[in-house]
Amino acid sequence: MDNFIIEGGRELKGTVTVSGSKNSALPIMCAAILADGPCTFHNIPDLVDIGTMVEVLSVLGIKVQKTRPGTLVMDPTGICSYEAPYDLVKSMRASVLVLGPLLAKFKRAKVSLPGGCAIGVRPVDLHLKALAKMGADIELSHGYIVASTDGLKGARIIFENTTVGGTENIMMAAALAEGTTIIEGAAREPEIPDLAKALNRMGARIEGAGTGTITIEGVKTLTGCEHTVIPDRIETGTLMVAAPITGSRLTIAGVRTDHNIAVAEKLSEMGIVITEKAPDIIEVNGQVDLKPMELSTAPFPGFPTDMQAQIMALSCVAGGASSITENIFENRFMHVPELMRMGANLEEKGRTVIVRGIERFQGASVMATDLRASACLVLAALNAKGTTEIRRIYHLDRGYEALDEKLAALGARVQRTKGGL
Ligand code: EPZ
Repeated sequence: MDNFIIEGGRELKGTVTVSGSKNSALPIMCAAILADGPCTFHNIPDLVDIGTMVEVLSVLGIKVQKTRPGTLVMDPTGICSYEAPYDLVKSMRASVLVLGPLLAKFKRAKVSLPGGCAIGVRPVDLHLKALAKMGADIELSHGYIVASTDGLKGARIIFENTTVGGTENIMMAAALAEGTTIIEGAAREPEIPDLAKALNRMGARIEGAGTGTITIEGVKTLTGCEHTVIPDRIETGTLMVAAPITGSRLTIAGVRTDHNIAVAEKLSEMGIVITEKAPDIIEVNGQVDLKPMELSTAPFPGFPTDMQAQIMALSCVAGGASSITENIFENRFMHVPELMRMGANLEEKGRTVIVRGIERFQGASVMATDLRASACLVLAALNAKGTTEIRRIYHLDRGYEALDEKLAALGARVQRTKGGL
């Protein structure tokens, strides 16, 4: 397994461009199942999770071609299986997003239950209840979701708790259902309107994506389409933190500022100066004294849970005492003990961590435990006095495209080494 060796304490300089959104690309790739012709998707990031999704869709019989960097052409006309196998689904939960499209298009699906992951149990009960309401027969058998239907019907779906994946699965299922589906309590993350835009380009009739109520009028068939995926707002936020944590000024290009308002507001509250240089370019001036802050993660437009670990690393080297509360996942503090190995002063109290600022991190040998925790350790290592070894960096490669190369191009000393535990 690969590791990173990072020599901390170097100021970064220059401009970095963000890649396409992992969490938008994954559902949009699944939407290709619904089409009756090839789909072309641009700005698809080159990530391990994208590779896994290509594998899942290829097992179903979809032909996937990478025609140039960032562009996938997906031809669903040869689909011959409706089963997403355990060995693939267990390595990436987002595979469950094939469930809605398979049911809507082929009236059957067999998808392994995703199982939990490091950050939580992450059930899919809300997805299944909603599909059942649309006329799917759902059975759980030997670790698989076995679903079938005579034909999905439009229904009024109320999500008591916000679910991004659940909203996406139902939007895709409803696109080919008979009649109208209204989703209330829909997730409002930017990936939802992006998926709706791609589906509408295929001929779907979806309104209200991005608000709490989405209306989908089912149609008989959907065509292929061409769509460019939005930039990755979590990579953007991660790179925004790289500026203050190294005492640098950075320019970040290819961003959607409207997708990062909560993160920008929180960083500004900490004293960082963020300037919009163009509609898709921001300058982040992190050469400031960092102030403490209070934070609670929440569904969009609140502060994203996927940025919680990264801003915790920053708050560790801010003045005073900060508090960070994680409301979305029940076990998303595994970066805490690793940050403490680097000298952080953290106290975990249930869903809240109290952070008392230190001067600087100390380099140490640490282990990545999940995707965003690994990004947090990279940020801490960039700040640290001395050298940090981050093991199991495969977690990072799941969701960040060549982050080591991007940081090295800004002047960081990041080396990827092979092997080791
Ligand atoms: C998406 O996961 C993202 N993944 C996650 O990003 C992100 O953290 C999450 O949304 C929240 O924003 C992708 O888009 C591929 P949820 P998802 O359904 O859809 C509970 C990353 O780092 N829940 O909104 O799985 C669930 O356990 C990843 O890129 C149920 O109880 O998240 C969680 O506590 C990590 N029953 C909460 O809701 C359900 O049926 C939010 O889950 C579904 C969810």
